[in-house]
Amino acid sequence: MCGIVGYVGEKHKTTEVLLTGLKALEYRGYDSAGMAYFIEDTIKVSKEVGRVQNLEKLLQEENATIGIAHTRWATHGEVTKENAHPHTQNKFTIVHNGIIENYQELKDNLTKKGYLFQSKTDTEVLAALLDFLYKKENDILKAINQLKDYVDGSYALGILCLDDKDTLYAIRKDSPLIVGIEEKDSFIASDVPAILKYTNQYILLENNEIVTLSKQGYTIYNEKLEKQEKEVLTFEGDITSAEKCGYEHFMLKEIYEQPEIVKNLVDYYLNLENNDFSDRLPSLLKYKKIHVVACGSAYHTGLVFKSLMEEYAEVETIVEVASEYRYKKNFYDQDTLVLVISQSGETADTLAALRKAKTDHIDTLAIVNVVGSSIAREADQVLYIYAGCEIAVATTKAYSAQLALLSLLALKLAYEKKLITKEQKQSILQGYIHIDKKMKKLLNQDYEKIVKRIYNRQDIFFIGRGIDYSMSMEGALKLKEISYINAVSYAAGELKHGTISLIEQNTPVIAINTSEHLKEKTISNIKEVKSRGAMVIYITNEDIEGDFYDEKIVIEKTSMFLQSLLTIIPLQLIAYYTAKQNGCDIDKPKNLAKSVTVE
Ligand code: F6R
Repeated sequence: MCGIVGYVGEKHKTTEVLLTGLKALEYRGYDSAGMAYFIEDTIKVSKEVGRVQNLEKLLQEENATIGIAHTRWATHGEVTKENAHPHTQNKFTIVHNGIIENYQELKDNLTKKGYLFQSKTDTEVLAALLDFLYKKENDILKAINQLKDYVDGSYALGILCLDDKDTLYAIRKDSPLIVGIEEKDSFIASDVPAILKYTNQYILLENNEIVTLSKQGYTIYNEKLEKQEKEVLTFEGDITSAEKCGYEHFMLKEIYEQPEIVKNLVDYYLNLENNDFSDRLPSLLKYKKIHVVACGSAYHTGLVFKSLMEEYAEVETIVEVASEYRYKKNFYDQDTLVLVISQSGETADTLAALRKAKTDHIDTLAIVNVVGSSIAREADQVLYIYAGCEIAVATTKAYSAQLALLSLLALKLAYEKKLITKEQKQSILQGYIHIDKKMKKLLNQDYEKIVKRIYNRQDIFFIGRGIDYSMSMEGALKLKEISYINAVSYAAGELKHGTISLIEQNTPVIAINTSEHLKEKTISNIKEVKSRGAMVIYITNEDIEGDFYDEKIVIEKTSMFLQSLLTIIPLQLIAYYTAKQNGCDIDKPKNLAKSVTVE
């Protein structure tokens, strides 16, 4: 979604910092870009549709001082230069990440007061509102601070005002914004990668806090406009986490990082010396029911968790997509845990679902990657997956880390409930310690033969039962989002209730079959499609020969708590190499955004 970067300082060239920041924010997904900066007493605005490179061409060598920049992912108004940010109204030029829900009402009122609008955006309305409030208050800080009294919605704003050419102003409410610090130089950004080339020191702004950046440094104000002392955090990853390091795409790099990330996570949440869980892993023993709420791939990890919780820990686990959960009647009580899963920690629907549970006084636990993100801060309890910066839009390493952590939670509960013995637990934990090596083996297999059979197809089916069905959903999502091939997943036993009519000679079906107790059932379903002409790619953990498949990928057999960490690797690599074969923009698939901060 939209990305913001801003800079005030003397160490670097402003336009260079802004361009570097915008390029680092590209991964969030965008369709136009722009920037604004002071040249002496005037504010110069440049914007362009398409890639940041298009904007770069417009920028001359100039002595820009203070500047703000933006990548836009269209919400209000189509993708045009007029709708790209920054937006100016009289003295104010702003960039915005978020959504203004009552923008039409505000726009109508401001139009009556004489404001004219060039764009269809909600952002331009904010610029006009700021100008209006400033005329009333004659004080920039007070004007910015009053926004919350007029505006419904979310906003992170970078603001320049013609009456103060020495200061960059910024505010956030429900959209992320950080302040970067490099001695006296300071930055604002939607997230850390945007400024990582210059500094790893940053401050997280809270809702309704305002920051001013000038050459003397930064000042943060609360909503009473009192100055705030805030903790300066250090971003633990280094710049390599935001660089490709020789890989052709971030997605491939992140796929290859998975064994290490899972290993680190296991080290963190287990007590390896005692072959036991560490105290960092909470107990879910007091809950009779778990509601898992998430979106996209995070939702898919929730489905795997459900299978493990119900099968091994015998706890009813309901998994719902957050966009549905937030608006429906939920039957929860004090014995329910609402568990939200989010890589970014900023997904609007997941955040709203979390807030709903909190309003209803239900315990909440969040599994999050981005440290200090909104979901991480608002949940009663947070468990981090420590997967580092995930840059590719299609999640891979965060997905695996979520799987690993969720499976540990289920295992711990099964053990606490005495549904598995100490010996079983210890043997499974040994599996966690060695899973990285098994994952690495799968990374080094050749998937070219499979890719050749599917890359030019229009429709591909993924099938499986139980956990394998959840994995087939993720496999289908990965393939469709980056290669644009229509991939659909079905519970293997459900095909014959309608969908099987689509199976024709040579229709590709990727069949996943790793669950011991469902193996024969799934093979029967595969035979049903095979006998109707399907071209079957069989992913299994048992190397049996048969005439019900055309290609076979064998993964090692391991405990069901860990099996999905192996199944996912061929699925990710098949999606990656298929997209590559088709010349797709793998790290930035069309229309998608990394962090979906609008509903
Ligand atoms: C798919 C993908 C998305 C995200 C979803 C939730 O590859 O990345 O489906 O999983 O948008 O995002 P987070 O986990 O940030 O809440």
